[in-house]
Amino acid sequence: MPVVPMKDILDRALADRYGVGAFNIVNDLSIEAVLAAAVEERAPVILQTSVKTVKMYGRRQLFEIFQALVRDVDVPVTLHLDHCPDRTVISDCLAGGWNSVLFDAHELDVAENLRQTTEVVAQARRTGAHVEGEIEGIQGVEDDVGSDEASRIQSLEVAVDFIKHTGVDCFAPAIGNAHGQYRQAPTLDAQRVSDLVAATGVPMALHGGTGLSDEQFTDLIARGCAKVNISTALKESYLRSSLAHLKEAEERGKWDPPALFRQQRAAVVAMARAHIRLFGGAGRAW
Ligand code: 13P
Repeated sequence: MPVVPMKDILDRALADRYGVGAFNIVNDLSIEAVLAAAVEERAPVILQTSVKTVKMYGRRQLFEIFQALVRDVDVPVTLHLDHCPDRTVISDCLAGGWNSVLFDAHELDVAENLRQTTEVVAQARRTGAHVEGEIEGIQGVEDDVGSDEASRIQSLEVAVDFIKHTGVDCFAPAIGNAHGQYRQAPTLDAQRVSDLVAATGVPMALHGGTGLSDEQFTDLIARGCAKVNISTALKESYLRSSLAHLKEAEERGKWDPPALFRQQRAAVVAMARAHIRLFGGAGRAW
């Protein structure tokens, strides 16, 4: 079984300044395709599930699909729960085998967020799991979580204090990034990543990966964004390839589900491989 703790993946990536793709998978086909991309690139990979995906399948069924598909994979893989404000779902996934969770309590005031995140870290440690923390909302609604309003940005001191006191293993700063496609090229506060990493030694999670430029990825990864989240690009590659296939099927009057699945899989594999290579993760499997 190639499943490893999240911290093993992120600490190596931070030390050697490469990024590990954290792909929001949505079903069995996308799990298998992302794993295949990681195997082809000999790269560690993070599979992450939104709360919506967990609820769609049920935690147990989703975990059993993951286990079945990861069984013969020979690169390091870790399973992470993305943005989750709900302690019940956090507890359920930790009990159910997830390696890591993002406790997204940015809607609480920082003191209460810190108190509850400290509890989640203690709870995660009991199953050998890890925790990503967040004190500012990442703009953009994704899988029904989040807001289109820009969140209040906390000072560097507040963020550093939160990371140190909670003991989180990874932190998601708001730096001008947003979920979904960017309407215009974002101006990012890359220096904040450098400052947070210098003050804490903790790897950062780059949210809103879809649509950033190659230069932005490279710069942020060099500054310590060891976890690089990609969701919208997976959804788009999956569904655009489906649309192309279905239009052609309609024209030809030929309806062949396995041919559709092959096209969807090829699109998701190509998307994941391109990101893994760009992030410097290829050849980093151990
Ligand atoms: P994108 O949808 O912009 O790729 O962002 C993914 C993400 O940050 C998931 O938490």
